[in-house]
Amino acid sequence: MNKTWWKESVVYQVYPRSFNDSNGDGIGDLQGMIEKLDYLKDLGIDVIWLSPVYQSPNDDNGYDISDYKSIMDEFGTMSDWEQLIDEVHRRDMKLIMDLVVNHSSDEHRWFQESKKSKDNPYRNYYYWRPGKDGKEPNNWESIFSGSAWQYDEKTDEYYLHLFSKKQPDLNWENEEVRKEIYKMMTFWLEKGVDGFRMDVINLISKTEGLPDAPLQEGKEYASGGEFYMNGPRIHEFLQEMNREVLSKYDIMTVGETPGATIDDAILYTGEERNEVNMVFQFEHMDLDSGPSGKWELKPLLLTDLKKSLSKWQTGLDGKGWNSLYVNNHDQPRIVSRFGNDKEYRVESAKMLATMLHMMQGTPYIYQGEEIGMTNVRFDSIDQYKDIETINMYHEKVEQRNEDIQSVMNSIYVKGRDNARTPIQWDDSKNAGFTTGDPWIQVNPNYKEINVKQAISDPNSVYHYYQKLIKLRKTHDIIVYGSYELLLEDDERIYAYTRSLEDKKLLVILNFTDEEVLFEKPEEMIYDTKQLLISNYMVDEGESLARILLKPYEARVYKLY
Ligand code: NOJ
Repeated sequence: MNKTWWKESVVYQVYPRSFNDSNGDGIGDLQGMIEKLDYLKDLGIDVIWLSPVYQSPNDDNGYDISDYKSIMDEFGTMSDWEQLIDEVHRRDMKLIMDLVVNHSSDEHRWFQESKKSKDNPYRNYYYWRPGKDGKEPNNWESIFSGSAWQYDEKTDEYYLHLFSKKQPDLNWENEEVRKEIYKMMTFWLEKGVDGFRMDVINLISKTEGLPDAPLQEGKEYASGGEFYMNGPRIHEFLQEMNREVLSKYDIMTVGETPGATIDDAILYTGEERNEVNMVFQFEHMDLDSGPSGKWELKPLLLTDLKKSLSKWQTGLDGKGWNSLYVNNHDQPRIVSRFGNDKEYRVESAKMLATMLHMMQGTPYIYQGEEIGMTNVRFDSIDQYKDIETINMYHEKVEQRNEDIQSVMNSIYVKGRDNARTPIQWDDSKNAGFTTGDPWIQVNPNYKEINVKQAISDPNSVYHYYQKLIKLRKTHDIIVYGSYELLLEDDERIYAYTRSLEDKKLLVILNFTDEEVLFEKPEEMIYDTKQLLISNYMVDEGESLARILLKPYEARVYKLY
């Protein structure tokens, strides 16, 4: 396996709107980020992934871009951005930018032109189609609820939007669109960015003819995902992008790829294939959802989680590269989701971090994860800001008359705003995020959970992350070792090993709030054992044969 810097890096995601506000308007900004770069450096991270900071009407918080080459006013100016990248590089870190090119904003100049007439030169930059039998051109459903088509009176046609109606899909079949996007990517690379996180990049190739999808009984729309996820020309497009742009720079790329299987991921990330370095796959994030999707809550079975993560660990070993994540701006907080955010918040946050950071792949930390931030429960839907959550609520409560409490409950468990409340820097007003009114309310638990507290407490989640990151830098085996699952059928313990040459790591994790007995497989033999990290005090002399694990206990041993 080739060794590269992006395999050995730890990435930290900044969602700028909620990170740090420097000018008191209640919205995080670039100067606010610059103020906190030393904090990120101290944590030990190598790369910052910055969620979109481009000009945007913010229908989807920047994932709807109206000008790819300028900075959103609320976040600052291009010169603030230039200062940011200089300051990042000066601290020997890297900056990757979000690339959102499955769709633009409907306020983008291209779309404004394309709306004007059927023969406008930009018409074919998007998917415009006439209606069918007085209805939408096909029966696909938007990922943000309702039809994926929006009617436009001016030309009496519909346009496709897989996300909100203010996010029209760009037509990648059109070579001019691709060329414009490659030019724009080159613009940012020439300005010094170190790579891209590519938003839903595996949705850019749609099946010719945009066929109707099979409709389930009683449903108005069908997902249609089979006609645009990992579509027919996706690898051709990515290889072209790689040839025209990516291959010319020493950068890192990560494609967000919902619905990608291991076989797909090998095609996207195989080193000989020249597409992207790694993908964000979703399988482990879907295990606590029912068949109708994320809002249908289902308890997580530990054996499912182990099976899924193990399959990806072994499936990509030597054939592609994993990205390791359990949090981002679209996912609820992991300590609330797979851990215990009450009595064992600190222990379970550390245990979950251990699970992830000891695996093969490039780890991603989402802002606030490193201090164990939790989900939030707002009383009313009016306090929520996320378009996905709001659309779903209206559809279920107003159109389908579903029970408000159960809809709110699914929002408490899965809503994206769980991850988007402001970073809790200290215990002062608004958690030190802003001196103004925050654009979304601060989680009321900021008095206990905040960065200032975490830095001053040697046993905090923060110091544990710092240590995990350091370990990855000092032990090759954590980056490159091969993975093997132990105790496959155990519903309480997740244990696995990593192996490189004559060394082994043993990772033992208790996923419950009870004491559980771990018994080392007899065939595992070694001369020396060294405890690398643990979330409780451990007697180093203790035998590994039988360990009574404490609630959410995590231990990592190096054996040789
Ligand atoms: C995935 C992004 O992570 C999410 O936040 C966004 O809403 C959609 N793509 C659409 O851009």
